[in-house]
Amino acid sequence: MRLHHARLLRSNGLSAPDTFYIAAGDEPDRDARGLVLSPGWMDLHAHLRDPGAPQKETLETGARSAAAGGFTHVVAMANTDPPTDSAGRLTELRRRSEALPIKVDFVGALTKGLTGDSLTDARALKSAGAVALSDDGRHALEAGLLEVGLWRAGGAGLPVLIHPQLERLGTEPAAEVEAIREAIEALRRTADAHLHLQHVSTQGSIGLIAAAKGAGLRLTAEVTPHHLALTAAELRISGPLAKVNPPLRTAADAIALRDALIDGIVDVIATDHAPHEDAVKHDEETAAYGLHGFETALATVLTLGLPWEVVHRACVAGPRRILGQELLDEWILIDPDQEWLVEPESFYSRGHNTPLKGRRMRGRVVMTVVGGKVVHGAEVAVA
Ligand code: DOR
Ligand code: ZN
Repeated sequence: MRLHHARLLRSNGLSAPDTFYIAAGDEPDRDARGLVLSPGWMDLHAHLRDPGAPQKETLETGARSAAAGGFTHVVAMANTDPPTDSAGRLTELRRRSEALPIKVDFVGALTKGLTGDSLTDARALKSAGAVALSDDGRHALEAGLLEVGLWRAGGAGLPVLIHPQLERLGTEPAAEVEAIREAIEALRRTADAHLHLQHVSTQGSIGLIAAAKGAGLRLTAEVTPHHLALTAAELRISGPLAKVNPPLRTAADAIALRDALIDGIVDVIATDHAPHEDAVKHDEETAAYGLHGFETALATVLTLGLPWEVVHRACVAGPRRILGQELLDEWILIDPDQEWLVEPESFYSRGHNTPLKGRRMRGRVVMTVVGGKVVHGAEVAVA
């Protein structure tokens, strides 16, 4: 397919309008004036709920939703039911993922059953194809065990991704800052380890990350679109639909995160796509934590007005660098000016849980192409 007048997103920003050829079956040529051709985005952090909660999501609905959101490669967390804490479970997920329209990789759990009590077998999980180890969804393990976990994962060539939130301190900013402080201390004592901090949400975390990176530690960090774009005030507007872990914070936090992303202290944007069925997102007290991420992420990110080279670093290059993944034949065509209404009922995902429901957004993926196949766009039927 020839895309006329498309602009190309490159590591140093946007190129001038030009004609690009992308392999996409029998697709006709397109006038891509005003559109941006980007390498497919990669999402380092998603919950696909498979196995165990098909009313929330499955590998298939999650992958289709990711394709619609412009993600051609996503990494699925291990807090499924049962959790992905053995080589056998990981192998089975990898086998099933071969049929999906985009690339889906899996993390293995860091501790058995995510309970924080005993470590999983890092080498066996690596051999089965895990791309990292993580207990995300919780952080139950103590610093001493995290240190051993970092050693073993490092020895197996796997990064450790942590949900930095000391459970005994609740969800206050201090619970995150202290978890990060502890984890950095553990990292300092381990050679060969790579620690990645998930969904950093608070200003106090940024200085710690900057200092550790400055000291040469192998530390990387992500921030979510919702922590960049929304604040705790959202809870008054959207109630339980804005309930997420870590919680939405203050405007000062959101600004600090944005600055840290621009400065390269925070490496990537990852969605923490956490689909839930409506029944568990009604009641303020008992509502489940988590927001739908895939299909609103790109508009949310573009609305931040970040320089395009930062978007490339945060959504294309950074996530692949962190997990040592290559960019394959993966492309998305973006209409940065398209306005659209967020109607969760028409999401491809089973999770309609977004506080952005009913909002007008700007910026949309018009086509997603993986390995020469159009996996989202014009002629793809709505599943
Ligand atoms: O809000 C969240 N939801 N935060 C997490 O860490 C886990 C996730 C989930 O699995 O629903
Ligand atoms: Zn998490």
